[in-house]
Amino acid sequence: MIDYFKYAVDADGICTLTIDQPGSAANVMDRNFIASFRANLEKAVADDAVKGIVLTSGKSSFVAGADLKSMEAALTTKQDAATLFEQCWDFSSLLRRMETCGKPVAAAINGAALGGGFEICLACHYRVASDARGIVVGMPEVGVGLLPGAGGTQRYLRLIGVAKALPFLLQGSQLKAEKAREAGLIHAVVPATELLVEAKRWLREAADPVQPWDKKGFRIPGGNSPLQPELAQLFMGTAANLQAGTFHNLPAPLAIASCLYEGMQLPMDKALRVECKYFVKLNLDPVAGNMVRTVFINKGEADKLVRRPAGVPTRRHERIGVLGAGLMGAGVAYVAAQAGIDVVLIDRDQACADKGKAYSEARLKKDVERGRLKADRLDAILARIHPTTDYAALRDVSLVVEAVFEDRSVKAEVFSLADAVLKDDAVLASNTSALPITGLAETTRRPNKMVGLHFFSPVERMPLVEVIRGRQTDDAALAEALDFVAQLRKTPILVNDSRGFFTSRFIGAFINEGVTMVAEGINPALIENAARMAGYPVGALSISDEIGLDLAWKGAQQQANDLGPDYVPGSSVGIITTLVADHERHGRKNRKGFYDYAADGSKRLWPGLADIWPRKPEAEQPTVDEVRTRMLFAQFADAARCMADGVLVDPADGDIGACFGVGFPIYLGGPFAAMDTLGIAHVVAECDRLAATYAADRYAIPQLLRDMAAEGRTFYGPNRIVPPATR
Ligand code: NAI
Repeated sequence: MIDYFKYAVDADGICTLTIDQPGSAANVMDRNFIASFRANLEKAVADDAVKGIVLTSGKSSFVAGADLKSMEAALTTKQDAATLFEQCWDFSSLLRRMETCGKPVAAAINGAALGGGFEICLACHYRVASDARGIVVGMPEVGVGLLPGAGGTQRYLRLIGVAKALPFLLQGSQLKAEKAREAGLIHAVVPATELLVEAKRWLREAADPVQPWDKKGFRIPGGNSPLQPELAQLFMGTAANLQAGTFHNLPAPLAIASCLYEGMQLPMDKALRVECKYFVKLNLDPVAGNMVRTVFINKGEADKLVRRPAGVPTRRHERIGVLGAGLMGAGVAYVAAQAGIDVVLIDRDQACADKGKAYSEARLKKDVERGRLKADRLDAILARIHPTTDYAALRDVSLVVEAVFEDRSVKAEVFSLADAVLKDDAVLASNTSALPITGLAETTRRPNKMVGLHFFSPVERMPLVEVIRGRQTDDAALAEALDFVAQLRKTPILVNDSRGFFTSRFIGAFINEGVTMVAEGINPALIENAARMAGYPVGALSISDEIGLDLAWKGAQQQANDLGPDYVPGSSVGIITTLVADHERHGRKNRKGFYDYAADGSKRLWPGLADIWPRKPEAEQPTVDEVRTRMLFAQFADAARCMADGVLVDPADGDIGACFGVGFPIYLGGPFAAMDTLGIAHVVAECDRLAATYAADRYAIPQLLRDMAAEGRTFYGPNRIVPPATR
């Protein structure tokens, strides 16, 4: 056993157990952790000289939580329930042993304590946190499809009552130390230098080795039984809201509510075993494995720039340029200035450039009004944005983001103006949504420095940036573009160049499918509702209206011009053309799209759709399942083609891009995770069925997928393929 703990007893008989995993930046709860925790705890309990125990950490964070990496590996190898239960119970019962060991234990929380880390603290009799910045506590497990399985749900319940515990656990709330104290989850917050002093003071002067719930006559705050009328109502409302919000797709929130419902009727020892069983149940569900992998592991690696070319020194961008101060340019300027970067913001005229800066001002003022930002910070951020029409100001920037109109000639014009002044090694990034980067690069004198940086709207809220490598992009440009994304604290995915890259064409497959169904006479309400039930945040017709039907129409025309005789219009192009050209329906912007929009912002599906595309009789309408299958499998087929064609370098980029960029149902973990879960052979058979039933090549799957099915290969796990782009 590698010992993760340092053991020291002082003259007052206080044993300080410092968690300090050797050779690691953080304390991770793996098997060694639990074994050394148990050994050190039992040593302190057995040591007559020890009167009380302080638990603290030797790292900047308290405990980083469960070892999700090995958990993901275990999830893909499918362990049996009994083994999983033993593993979970091993830790949960250890914490129970600590809180009933007869000696008082105080947690001195010197850094972030999340998930299992905070569960350890909750099993201590006293919790004091330092007031240092960045200290948060909480149970974020629900965000990766899990629940706190070592007493977290039961101790929240018994500390603060079901009405307060439920929202914290269902939202995975992370609370700053002071907020956690106000909520009743920790006892005290003190300056960092006083942390151990305070923990020891409590042990000397006020120590009580019995938890409130182990005392005779204990009652759960706010009510002891779920049958009490107000609690019965709370549980009923919660169950209904959960199903309305998740459409039965996410098992974790319901399992958490069940832990509280059942747990409050049981003694602690029994309740902990029930919680453990729910934890095992979630572990056996592919939702948790897929969410852990995409949301935690793969996103974490992307944030650490796992695909950054090696050997290029890290570039810290101090000053960048943004060309085009419209919706996207203004957003990029705003997030860059917030990240401490100076921004030269260029537009056609000074008024447009100023308007771009005013966007930041308006947003920042709102933050000041809400008390989220100090007024002097507002001035400092705004002072970094320099609106101008003068390209000479780009002389000393290290990177330029172009966000002018989606028009090749306008883009070429601003590139040539920038080219004339930029330093040779400056990166030229385009925020185009779909135009191939290689083609744009040919209009500049620096094709090797050209890269795609595809932001999503609204820039300040969307966490993803799709980074596109053109045919001539060099390693330095790519690496420095990735450095910029990291400076903005956004998540980059890396893709190779192609029309629509990955995200635009991938969401296009979903939208195209939904719109196509309208012309087949399928009830538009069914199309929209089936999407919501499948876990998409909004239906295909709603998104089309938001993006603008006129823009989609223009995009199709541009594509027709670009591709000439090779152009094959998507199945939705005729429908969009009819709506725009014959009926002037441009989407939300002119309050007429697939929906009619009232002045008060409410909307309802346009009844005129049925006059253009007669509705099938009710008996011939497809099932919800079939509509959902069509949308999902159209996207699976497209994602598989992106992998086969080398647009994607790795399935992780596809899954992150799908879930964090374009609203793919997150409980599926992305299209590649979902295909693995369903079984590649099943995906092949279903796409073949759909292609035959609807005589459509949009479900056509690449040979890659057929080969994978034949050979029993997957996108992840021990039998994973080597992606074609990296062969
Ligand atoms: P926008 O129309 O809001 O802004 C474009 C800006 O470029 C305007 O301020 C315009 O005055 C300026 N501009 C036009 N010609 C110029 C010139 N010759 N010199 C300097 N400035 C010029 O457009 P938006 O939505 O910001 O889009 C910009 C780019 O970002 C497009 O390529 C678009 O495809 C892409 N994009 C848009 C997204 C969206 O959700 N709107 C999402 C991702 C990418």
